[in-house]
Parts: sequence; C-alpha cells; structure tokens
Amino acid sequence: MHLTKEEERLLAGEGGEALRKAMEILLTLGEMNNAERLIPITSAQVSGVSYKTIGDAGLEFLRDMAESGAKVKVLTTLNPAGAPVEAAHELGFPEEFIRKQREILRAYESMGILVSCTCTPYYVGNLPRFGEHIAWAESSSVIYANSVIGARTNRESAISALAAALVGKVPEYGLHLSENRQGSFRVEIKTKLESSTDYAALGYYVGRNYKGIPVFAGASPQGEDLKALGAALATGAISMFHFAGATPEYREEKLEKIEVGEEELREAWEELNTCEEPDIVTIGCPHASLKEVLAVAKLNPRREVWIFTSRQVKELAERYIKNENIKIIADTCMVVAPLEELGIKCIGVNSAKAAFYSTNLSKISVRFDSLENLLREE
Ligand code: F3S
Repeated sequence: MHLTKEEERLLAGEGGEALRKAMEILLTLGEMNNAERLIPITSAQVSGVSYKTIGDAGLEFLRDMAESGAKVKVLTTLNPAGAPVEAAHELGFPEEFIRKQREILRAYESMGILVSCTCTPYYVGNLPRFGEHIAWAESSSVIYANSVIGARTNRESAISALAAALVGKVPEYGLHLSENRQGSFRVEIKTKLESSTDYAALGYYVGRNYKGIPVFAGASPQGEDLKALGAALATGAISMFHFAGATPEYREEKLEKIEVGEEELREAWEELNTCEEPDIVTIGCPHASLKEVLAVAKLNPRREVWIFTSRQVKELAERYIKNENIKIIADTCMVVAPLEELGIKCIGVNSAKAAFYSTNLSKISVRFDSLENLLREE
C-alpha cells in the first residue's frame, strides 16, 4: 500500500501509541484486501459498545486507548450500549454490568466520540451525503448508508471503525470503489408486502440464501421498510442493495433473476418464529424512527411494549405519548441488553434482525409478527 509521509510518521509512532496501533490495523486491513491507499472519511460509526458483547477484554483495550489520550479526527457516533445510560437501575439491570458499561462509555467519550448510543446515526445528525466515504461498523447502518443514502462504507469491525475514526481515513477497497457497487442479481417480488415486517422477512430470506448485491423490484417501500429490509439482509453477508424506484444508485441492468413470493416469505416467518406468547413486545431494531414510535402509540397497546430508540427520538416522542404500557428506552436494544438476565423468555418483535439475534445470541425465544398483530392482543 502506498503511504503518504504523514501516514508513515504515524506508523512509526510519532503521533503516539494509539495512532500507531490504529495505522497498523488500517494497513493490515488494506493489504489483506489489496487496497492501494488510504482515503479520507467524513464520519465514523463505532460498534463494540455493549459490555454483554465485548466483555472485560474489550473494556481493557478501550481503557488503554483512552489513557493514551488519542482523539478521533472526524464526526464519530456510537452504537447502542448494553443498558440505558440513565434508567438502567430502574429497569433492574445488574449493578456490576451497569458499572462496567459506564466505564466503556467514558472511555469512548474521552476519545472525542459522541455517546449517541444508537444504530440509526442517520436519524440523529450523523447523516453523510451521497458519495461520501465513511467508516461505519454495525451491519444495519452500513447497509442503510450504502443503499439508501448512497454513501460508501465497508462493513467495518468495532476495531477498524475506531482505527479509522482516529486516523480519519480508511483503506480504499470493496464498496468504496464504484465497480464493486453494481447489482449481482435481480429479485422480482411476487407478493404484496404490507408492512415493514414483510420487508424484513423478504430481507431475511434473501440474506440467508444469496450473496452479493441484490436488486429488488416489484414493490414501493417507505424509508422504514428499507431500514427493515436492509437490517434483515445484513444478518447474512449482504452490505448493499438496490431497489427500483427507491434507492439512488439503482440502474437498469441485465442480471440473473430470482422470484420471491408468498412461499419464500412464509419460510422466513416460520424459521424466525420460536414462541407464541411474548412476555413483552419489543420494537426498534434498528432503532425506531419518530414515525415508528408514533405508529405504536396510535395502536394504543394494552400490553407492555418497550420501544428502543435514540435519546433524541425518545425525548420528542415522550412529550406526546401518554400510554403507560409504552416504555421508550434509549441507548440500548433488545439484543445487546441482557434481557435474559431480567427473566424474560419470549419477546414479540417485528424485526427479522432482532428475531435472529435474540434467538441465536441471547437464547430468548421470539414471536416474529407485524406490529398490528403483536399489539392487537392483550
Ligand atoms: Fe440496532 Fe440492536 Fe438491532 S444495535 S440493529 S437495535 S440488534
């Protein structure tokens, strides 16, 4: 890889140990992927925030980085943590967990990272423009940025996103290059998609069975449908999609076609459903938009529902929502928070990503259904 004089100096440790480590990470990543150079980024989204997922080893690493005095060079936001920053005690999270979680957040904050704790940074001010190069970790925001916004990012790991934020650059390969952003196969939708849960089931089916960049046609999604579709696709190895009439880099291309109809969607629904009667309904994977929070309120639920979202959306929504069954929870989500330790065994979700990871990571069973169906019952 070709390095500038300045990059060589950082690699030699002239900018301090944290920057030397960060350069080494970027260089290794670039060389593994045949990148020729590093390119500047305008923003970063860092994952690896929940104590549940990074544990003591992750905390130790962050402590070292923070103590070295390193600071990020670009706008950098943070993924959800394992517990709400303020209401963790109220919800019954274990004391030790809260303490370590707070230490993780302090370490990130001391590096100049905004403790936004959301996986939808594009709803809270980290909104890149079309064509900008960024370094985002967190698969659902990566696929949204590439597909819906038209910004350019590979699916960074927690460590490479942090390294990129500190250096302000990423290796140029993969989805940073125009030639790698074209569609690989066309998905003809042969059934009516009625809710974002249907889009999630579609994404789950395609993500589990195919690789590459799918080009969807045959439906008219809203923004939140695209968010649900992308998050579900990303449970497989997909980091970008196109959608005829809905995404900015869609082009008419001659591609191999597959059809997805009722049968394929049913297959996805059946695979994701592992229990019948949820203890609680949890909405907001990826974090809920204001529109989605208001949609829950409009259904006036008579059963307990937890909505996971950003602090900004929570603050605004709470001014208007008076239903006691609705709890709006910021900073965390149903997957990275240790719900299993709160005695919860079955949750209702309308997100394929939440269904997949709750079952496989948290060992919590899931009822996967549309918002209306989940909230209709008592
Ligand atoms: Fe976000 Fe948690 Fe889902 S981080 S994408 S709400 S698993």
